[in-house]
Amino acid sequence: MSGFPSIQPAFTVLVAIASPLAIGSASRGTPLAVVPMTSGTVKSEPGFEPALNAELDGVGYDYIRTDGSGTHMRLDVRSQLKDTSGSLIAMYYKGAVRLSPETVKVLSGAPDAKTTEFGDSVVNFSFETGAERFKALETMTFVGAGRFVVKKDGLAVEYKVSRVIAG
Ligand SMILES: *[C@@H]1O[C@H](CO)[C@@H](O)[C@H](O)[C@H]1NC(C)=O
Repeated sequence: MSGFPSIQPAFTVLVAIASPLAIGSASRGTPLAVVPMTSGTVKSEPGFEPALNAELDGVGYDYIRTDGSGTHMRLDVRSQLKDTSGSLIAMYYKGAVRLSPETVKVLSGAPDAKTTEFGDSVVNFSFETGAERFKALETMTFVGAGRFVVKKDGLAVEYKVSRVIAG
């Protein structure tokens, strides 16, 4: 099966999120919700280069639209990281999330909502930076599997992110 790309575990993203701003839709039909990402960390796996140990810098936002079918929602995230080296990196991700009963419970704040399994969400990550040491991130392709984490003091999202490698 030569030629097919493989993946290398790259980093884990863990981000606390606040309540969505339910903007809605007066005419477009796919209601918009904006979810603030208030704090978080991005830590790379041993062996991944460029090594990354970063925190969310300021607030990121996820512009989420629910499909007309109601089965999925589409994420569109823009956020900023600061690495321990002081470098600033913009982190974006996009993809669809299946609105499984477990995920809907989390999103609606159901009293019996629990941390979800990985499986409802696969997204792509991309990066932009002026820092030479992180330049390679700008040309790599990343995929992430996501889940919601229910904590006593609120909600977080966690993504396990891998780099796609040729051959
Ligand atoms: C990521 O996925 C979105 C669709 O969800 C697509 O529009 C975008 O081009 C993709 N970006 C990359 C870098 O693969």
